[in-house]
Amino acid sequence: KFSITDFKNQMLEQIRKEVAGREVLCGVSGGVDSTVLAVLLHKAGIKQRCIFVDHGLLRKHEREDVVAQFAEVGVPIEVVDASAQFLGALKGVTDPEQKRKIIGNLFLDVFFGAADHVELLAQGTLYPDVIESATSGSIASKIKTHHNRVDRVMELKEAGRVIEPLAELFKDEVRALGAELGIPHRALWRHPFPGPGLAVRVPGEITEERLTSTREADAIFMEELRKSGWYEKTWQAYAALLPVKTVGVKGDERSYEQAISLRAVISEDAMTADWVELPYQVLRNTSNRILNSVKGVNRVLYDISTKPPASIEWE
Ligand code: XMP
Repeated sequence: KFSITDFKNQMLEQIRKEVAGREVLCGVSGGVDSTVLAVLLHKAGIKQRCIFVDHGLLRKHEREDVVAQFAEVGVPIEVVDASAQFLGALKGVTDPEQKRKIIGNLFLDVFFGAADHVELLAQGTLYPDVIESATSGSIASKIKTHHNRVDRVMELKEAGRVIEPLAELFKDEVRALGAELGIPHRALWRHPFPGPGLAVRVPGEITEERLTSTREADAIFMEELRKSGWYEKTWQAYAALLPVKTVGVKGDERSYEQAISLRAVISEDAMTADWVELPYQVLRNTSNRILNSVKGVNRVLYDISTKPPASIEWE
């Protein structure tokens, strides 16, 4: 009979064998895959370094949440704050492909720069990622392999210095394994978050101000989804900031302020997606709170586009 405990123990045994005393470098994002991977390596009792890169494109309180999440499971992580570097490099850039390229390349530079030497690299690749890389927890796929320079990872791979302990598992199996490893429910049911972060949810130029509006609106939306029980019924949900100003009224004057678009989708594998029929009350509460409290926003929209033809993210 299948037992998850036996399965976990087999995986730990296999990891110890494969690692054979070498130091393992592991990039963590706080997402499900890289968290399960990091805890698994930790429980295997091997030599390990976990690096979390803050690229300045994270959601509200995300860095603190990730640090707390790892403290809770007892796995030490190193936080590299590279936000000034990323925001500097993105200054004035509006082309979506260019934005992705800058973020992807800088991410690898910062990550490997922090690591200084690599004996073994562990990636949280899952079975479906072997076929499609969109939502994987691996560094290469985080930045969409076909768009970016991943030579360093490729080099390591060819040298047999990349391990992918989760490569035979599906998402639900990773969650089951995570639960068996004692990882809290909340961490195992986080929505996927793209490698380039809020950059793909802030079409146009990235500025600190525009990031702040996006973060505030997104945090309100997440709170309302959790409160109403809809967070775990959706695959992914977020607020994006549109690159337009629209007319509104403020007191007895016309104002030109920004528009927020909310998106909530269900999906099996991110290849196709459908928008979620959220209750009007959830949308109304979210909209009211955003309009009342997020500076510079006077309009809130709900995205009712399926994928295809739209993608899940804006860029
Ligand atoms: P799209 O927007 O292509 O997104 O429909 C499909 C899924 O992939 C995520 N996504 C990414 N994930 N690095 C990632 O790790 C990326 O560059 C990236 N771009 C999009 C997106 O959030 C959705 O879950």
